[in-house]
Amino acid sequence: MVTKIVDLRSDTVTKPTEAMRAAAASAIVDDDVLGSDPTASLFEAEIAALVGKEAACFVPSGTMANLICVLVHCEVRGSEVILGDKCHINVYENGGISTIGGVHSRTVPNNPDGTMDLDLIEAAIRDPHEELYYPTTRLICLENTHANSGGRCISLEYTDKVGEIAKRHALKLHIDGARIFNASVALGVPVDRLVQAADSVSVCLSKGLGAPVGSVILGSKSFIVKAKRLRKTLGGAMRQVGILCAAARVALNDNVSKLAEDHRKAKILAEGLSRIKGLKVNSASVETNIVFFEILESSNISVEKFCNFLKEHGILVMAVDTCSSIRVVLHHQISESDIHYTLSCIQLLFPQYLVGN
Ligand SMILES: Cc1ncc(COP(=O)(O)O)c(C=O)c1O
Repeated sequence: MVTKIVDLRSDTVTKPTEAMRAAAASAIVDDDVLGSDPTASLFEAEIAALVGKEAACFVPSGTMANLICVLVHCEVRGSEVILGDKCHINVYENGGISTIGGVHSRTVPNNPDGTMDLDLIEAAIRDPHEELYYPTTRLICLENTHANSGGRCISLEYTDKVGEIAKRHALKLHIDGARIFNASVALGVPVDRLVQAADSVSVCLSKGLGAPVGSVILGSKSFIVKAKRLRKTLGGAMRQVGILCAAARVALNDNVSKLAEDHRKAKILAEGLSRIKGLKVNSASVETNIVFFEILESSNISVEKFCNFLKEHGILVMAVDTCSSIRVVLHHQISESDIHYTLSCIQLLFPQYLVGN
């Protein structure tokens, strides 16, 4: 009988801490749709200062944050956005920028490190003189960390170079920074510097930071005015939202400093997995809190069998789409002993492949 669950499916599974619950319970609130919730306003001012942008807007989810940002930048019909083929906006957001916003996507292949080749980005920008045939390029999107590439960090140098391309062509740059604090900690670059080149940033509060709900959009004052209007249109404006913002403030204060520890635990897990012969993992590419690994065909263990076996031992992991890969995500509610327990359970499945410690 399993008594403890080790939930490694995502960093979205964290439960709010006692401090978050207490802050939410005692938050001073009012109607944020009328612009008068003091806790929401305080949170937005604090995070805007931290991320180095003029203003902020709390939204229910990362998906809505990205949708609003793309739509505000691409408000003219016939707009096109350049983005990576494996980025979250392109793969996992129901094509909302097209179905809801009428924005056309021009994808560029994501490299294994989450970047797109700079010359391919530049080549994807439409010639403004050819507008009889082509949509008009208005926006470039980056994702940092890049989830589908295993939480790889997009460097400051690269981000600045994409910013220069955007400026040269009078385009905007949006960063899906769902895990930008993970990138900032792993790269050792202050978050405001890391996103300096961006016109807008979306940050998830309910991933590694551990807040129960919410994301935030950051940008110039005029951008955030438009974002708040669109948030209302989409049904994302909430009344006494200070309850959620109070928990998010605690998440920011308490949990950014724990991200380095999540990255260290991810590394321990990846290195342990790399010693098991039936699995393939590139532990050198584990830069933050996400570990992808493959079950080798020669092991004769299906992804389904692997996941079910771990589940019987109280460990939850997620298969990546339909292929033979597994995704594991670390967060502050996973301990180092949980990692060792997970490795020992996996070793039970692959005893004949064990190559020692
Ligand atoms: C990189 C990235 N962007 C955006 C999102 C969307 O966030 P949400 O699940 O809050 O809509 C996610 C969610 O996993 C993500 O990983």
